[in-house]
Amino acid sequence: MKYGYYDDDAREYVITTPKTPRPWINYLGNEGFFGLISNTAGGYCFYRDARLRRITRYRYNNVPMDTGGRMYYIKDKDSVWSPAFLPCKTPLDRYRCRHGLGYTVFEGAKDQISASLCCFVPIGYDCEVNRLTLRNESSAARTLELFGVVEWCLWDAVDDSTNFQRNLNIGEVEIDECAIYHKTEYRERRDHYSFYGANITCGGFDTDRDAFLGSMGDWSMPLAVERGECAGSVAMGGHPIAARHFELRLAPGEENSVVFLTGYVQLPDKKKWERPGVINKAPAKELLTRFAGCAAVEAALKELGEYWTGLLGRLQIKSSEQRLDRTVNIWNQYQCMVTFNMSRSASYFESGIGRGMGFRDSCQDILGFVHLAPQRARQRILDIASVQLADGGAWHQYQPLTKLGNSNAGSGFNDDPLWLVVCTAAYLKETGDFKILEEAVPFDGGVEANTPLLEHLRRAVAYICGRLGPHGLPLIGRADWNDCLNLNCFSKEPGESFQTCANFESGVAESVFIAALYVKAAGEYAEILKRVGRGEQGEEVSASVYRMASAVLTHGWDGEWFLRAYDAYGKPVGSGMCDEGQIYIEPQGFCAIAGIGLHNGYARKALDSVKERLTTKYGTCLLDPCYTSYRLELGEISSYPPGMKENGSVFCHTNPWIGIGEALTGNPEEAYAVFSRVCPAFLEDISEIHETEPYVYCQTIAGKESPRFGQGKNSWLTGTAAWFFVFVSQYILGIRPGFDGLELTPCLPAEIKGYTATRKYRGCIYDIAVRNEQNGGYKLTLDGKPFNGKALPCEAGRTYKVVLTV
Ligand code: GLC
Ligand code: GLC
Repeated sequence: MKYGYYDDDAREYVITTPKTPRPWINYLGNEGFFGLISNTAGGYCFYRDARLRRITRYRYNNVPMDTGGRMYYIKDKDSVWSPAFLPCKTPLDRYRCRHGLGYTVFEGAKDQISASLCCFVPIGYDCEVNRLTLRNESSAARTLELFGVVEWCLWDAVDDSTNFQRNLNIGEVEIDECAIYHKTEYRERRDHYSFYGANITCGGFDTDRDAFLGSMGDWSMPLAVERGECAGSVAMGGHPIAARHFELRLAPGEENSVVFLTGYVQLPDKKKWERPGVINKAPAKELLTRFAGCAAVEAALKELGEYWTGLLGRLQIKSSEQRLDRTVNIWNQYQCMVTFNMSRSASYFESGIGRGMGFRDSCQDILGFVHLAPQRARQRILDIASVQLADGGAWHQYQPLTKLGNSNAGSGFNDDPLWLVVCTAAYLKETGDFKILEEAVPFDGGVEANTPLLEHLRRAVAYICGRLGPHGLPLIGRADWNDCLNLNCFSKEPGESFQTCANFESGVAESVFIAALYVKAAGEYAEILKRVGRGEQGEEVSASVYRMASAVLTHGWDGEWFLRAYDAYGKPVGSGMCDEGQIYIEPQGFCAIAGIGLHNGYARKALDSVKERLTTKYGTCLLDPCYTSYRLELGEISSYPPGMKENGSVFCHTNPWIGIGEALTGNPEEAYAVFSRVCPAFLEDISEIHETEPYVYCQTIAGKESPRFGQGKNSWLTGTAAWFFVFVSQYILGIRPGFDGLELTPCLPAEIKGYTATRKYRGCIYDIAVRNEQNGGYKLTLDGKPFNGKALPCEAGRTYKVVLTV
């Protein structure tokens, strides 16, 4: 069952009912000011940090889940409705929600009044524009009472939902004819306030929630709306809100727009006040004036569209499969941008008050993002490197606002540092900018002096080599990529964090996954060393890579697949000898990616085992059989019910690893099947089962042991986005950046007869045409002439015509 449809020309997903299985959301904003917005206009705004600078309030565990956000009410005599359905819940005559790139439009209609609410964050400004256009489609003149409301969050979102003895006494606002200004804590240490204004002055207002809602009132029918009039309340403590009320008269056929603005202003100390006790409103007024006219709003929307056209233009394809095209051209790239911006902080599954930026997460996000905005990726790599520790290890998480390691999560996740190497290599392959390796970056946020990035990479690699276990495989530490395989944890206390409780430092638990990751990452590092004239050092690294690969083949092979780990007692994990958790997905895919076992058939055999043991109609599961009881020696993985999360769900992030393995072992049909089983565009028809947005990947899909088999969870912020993009663009389509230039190595199933593509890369444009004749050959012409090299030439400014027949 579908709840909407794709409009590829508009680059939108159009939702046709407010009653989707869950809120289906979108993201507004790209640099400073961000908004999450659902298909009923729910969600919230924040400035840079979803926890510390929360602008509007979001109530966790709310019912209905999505109440709040941008609240608009149209009172038309006795009927009251909201253009986005919520908060009123009055049935609409027409409803559509169009989620586009960085904007969302709601189209609602009731009793011959139509409303269009367009929400977006203009590029370069710290505000969210909500332009509401009302049109009288009847033949009589109409008078409407229009209310627009936001509820302020008292900045720190954790405090806001816990510390009521203080919070209910600090709320402060200012009011003038243009806007309501939220200035809680501005009198003391804050240098920022927010505001909610409109382009029509005067009208009624409320700033005290209780006065607006009335006793026992709720957002579906506030007292003020019912009455048709605000009370003019001034918040002092309590729950400050910003409610504006206007009367609109519309002649038959007439249309009128009101532009509402939720904005954020930050001021240097000296400019905070206009006069004692009165905030400096000049910057807010400037913003309000800038977007007061519909022409300015239109222009900003157009600019947003062009911005996305520019970004996405770096890779555009056309094939006979629309679902493939829309995934590659629009939604997967868009999701890569969002994961890059948000890491794992703010979604409808990530509260924005939990973790900051994940070290490994952010590194992997770059893999799918680097082609979009290489300069931003560069800066991110340097930021991440600066939270690496001097011993080569890494803080597991860091705060985006301070760029300092997060001591709650600590360090000792032994895969973390290697991802820095992997993302730096991806950056070099995209840009050829080897100068980045000379950039001086501190360790641990400045605790140790600046050191060139290349030295950071050396220490990352050395960190692993210095921590090998009894089988010559890397020690796992607190966990590797699988945060829930906690082999040194042995937690018995309810509520204790599995990741940070390490009360059984065995010193022997080893990870085959990290071994494979090492072979991949250190292999890239050796290539980098060769290219910066340190070939000798590169040879040494290559030798260590060879030793590691041998250790995997000797001690990491179980007979039909690769082992997952050795636990704290030295017993194998992910082996046919285990009673449960006999086969894990991670090493099967990653060994193939690292090239381990390609020569002797192990990689192929492992992938066949994956097909047999882990593959379901809804994707490839993480392990089999799922753990049915809690295992002290394995940790969090066995805490989940079977088929959920790391305990055997389809953990989507790992599926591309299998797909890439299939591509590398020459199995295009299965590679494509791995892609299409999980790709959201292919799941649109089963939205009632999948439940999450059909335009973005989710982190996990309930596995076959779960009664909710096929149910998606944790959409949007997941490494799945980046890895699927790498998989589909570089391995299925085969447009693959290499150290020496762009390579073309497609692995297309028979049903895709070919494709054309435009790829912008290192200042060149490649016009690519691939014909899939399935003849086992490889015939490439460059500007009409046969070309036998690997990397395509790349003279900045040139356009190349590439035709490939396979
Ligand atoms: C989550 C984490 C990621 C981890 C994965 C598997 O997605 O953000 O870092 O690798 O779970 O546990
Ligand atoms: C939980 C989740 C896992 C995530 C981790 C992050 O353990 O199951 O997916 O990586 O939290 O801290």
